[in-house]
Amino acid sequence: MGDILGLGISHYPMFALTDTNMADLLKYTLADPDIPDAAKVPANWPAAMQQEWGTDAGVTGAARHRTQLEHGFRRARAALDAFAPDFVLVWGDDQYENFREDVIPPFSILAYESQTLQPWKHVPGPLAGKPNAWGESLETTIVVNGAPDAARALVSDLIEDDFDVAYSYKPLHFQGLAHAFLNAVMYLDLDRRGFPYPVVPFAVNCYGRKVVSFRGSLSRFADAGRRADPPSPSPRRCFDLGRAVARAVARSPYRVALCASSSWSHAFLVDKTWRLFPDIQSDRRLYGLLESGDLAAWRDVPLAAVEESGQHEMLNWFCLAGAMYELRAKLEWSEFVESHVYNSNKVTAIYEPLSV
Ligand SMILES: [Fe+2]
Repeated sequence: MGDILGLGISHYPMFALTDTNMADLLKYTLADPDIPDAAKVPANWPAAMQQEWGTDAGVTGAARHRTQLEHGFRRARAALDAFAPDFVLVWGDDQYENFREDVIPPFSILAYESQTLQPWKHVPGPLAGKPNAWGESLETTIVVNGAPDAARALVSDLIEDDFDVAYSYKPLHFQGLAHAFLNAVMYLDLDRRGFPYPVVPFAVNCYGRKVVSFRGSLSRFADAGRRADPPSPSPRRCFDLGRAVARAVARSPYRVALCASSSWSHAFLVDKTWRLFPDIQSDRRLYGLLESGDLAAWRDVPLAAVEESGQHEMLNWFCLAGAMYELRAKLEWSEFVESHVYNSNKVTAIYEPLSV
């Protein structure tokens, strides 16, 4: 018999930077020569976006956004501390970190040992060389405990339940932990008290058609002709995977926190807004279903709709939704933080713990 706590958080990379840099993804997009000039003029943006941008290109707005996000991270951490899990399973996207040309599994459980990491030593893309919000040095270390035995047991159980997930014992390319997992740990440890809970990273190929072709990241409109990769697993498959994980944990002797790690619609993936802001309407609709407990409706969302709305990383949340649906878990607290300027809407969700 296992005990389960469901959580969902963001791992928004720019939150790790200072307020001065928090709107850098939008600034990158604004430099795309194929976006019409009129779309780049703040006076033509939605009113809420103009307000966030303000008169200082989003620096003051960043402080407000940070405060809202910190509130959610602290609540999630408090729920985790009250539950005191044996390990935290984190569903996260692999953005061309370990999922590269040599192998792209739909799902992969990382049965890693404990690691001492230097989070600012090997910072990817848009964060490289910029000061971090904690003022930590390149030499700063954090310990992320692993749970390789529990991870192996989970892989075995899922395969016996006909869910043929991949697994690995060490990184293939990206040393340490990919951003979706490392950021989750760092944001759940905002106050740097240490993160005592072992982590089982559960990588999902969220970027699908863009995982190799666009290296799961930013691009220009001029790059549109690149040859697409095969798709990601569908929302339905992720949902059903979450259900299978919930059953496996229920059969286990462990207390497990199941945590989806990602923001929702990502502006840089939404062509219909010129990649300037996320698909707020679509996120609001899915959030309404989550709030009302109608998770079954999530299972029916087509992958094409997820891709059109730039919700690729929400596949992590589809896994969580399936698990919570399987357990009939009740949402205890959640918050939707809307943003036009800071790339994505962010949701924090906390479910009531269950003994199953
Ligand atoms: Fe991500």
